[in-house]
Amino acid sequence: MYKIPANTLFVGQRLVFVPECQSTNTLLAEMTTKSALPEGTVVITNHQKAGRGQRGNVWLADAGLNLTLSILLNPNFLPVRHQFQLTAVTSLAVCGYLRKKGLRETFIKWPNDILVDRKKICGILIENSLQGETIHQSIVGIGLNLNQKIFVPSSATSLFSETGKTVDLNNELHLLLPEIESAYLQLRAGNIKWIQSTYLSLLYGKDQWLPFESEGKKFSGKIKDVDEAGRLILSTENGERSFSMKEITFLR
Ligand code: BTN
Repeated sequence: MYKIPANTLFVGQRLVFVPECQSTNTLLAEMTTKSALPEGTVVITNHQKAGRGQRGNVWLADAGLNLTLSILLNPNFLPVRHQFQLTAVTSLAVCGYLRKKGLRETFIKWPNDILVDRKKICGILIENSLQGETIHQSIVGIGLNLNQKIFVPSSATSLFSETGKTVDLNNELHLLLPEIESAYLQLRAGNIKWIQSTYLSLLYGKDQWLPFESEGKKFSGKIKDVDEAGRLILSTENGERSFSMKEITFLR
């Protein structure tokens, strides 16, 4: 069903398709314990029966209509304190792909939800294995809604919902993977400044007042920046404050 892309150096050059599985992240992690896999190995499925999301949530996607995949990366050049950069490159690559599809109102909701017209079109779950101070292995899971028409909750969307057009999943995979590879190569080349500025230029809500909650308290904040460690920097009525992912939730 899926072919090896002709336009990447390593991402997707080993492509494992399974008609169904529990979770492509889990399956790829298991495969790495059994044999040495080349960097860029992709596991992709038609039907994920127990897809995992951030913060222990489930990821639901109708069978055969969406891209549901995991990519193996070995960013052993990346210090653990910079692991957010993997989130940043993956997010901006997916955003780049969607903007090239004509969806101009595509933004990254910190840290890594991809929104089109404020609705979520893609979720990313990155699971890192650390070795000392560096990242030995990273499993980058991507759930990208393409041909699905109906969503519960309705705060989600798909390429079809936005454009009215059905797409070929293999073609879209071959458009997405090069975006991921080239953003990852920027990271490997150490172009952190480019990554930071591109990520910021695509950030949902930048310089707008938005409602947040932290430690049980609701407050308004204006997103000013995201630092190299991935902390969200807000300007609030109590001055500038920074938050890790676990410390804050968006209320809208
Ligand atoms: C989120 O937004 O909560 C992240 C969702 C990530 C879903 C993808 S689908 C492919 C990969 N396998 C999983 O079990 N999860 C990720």
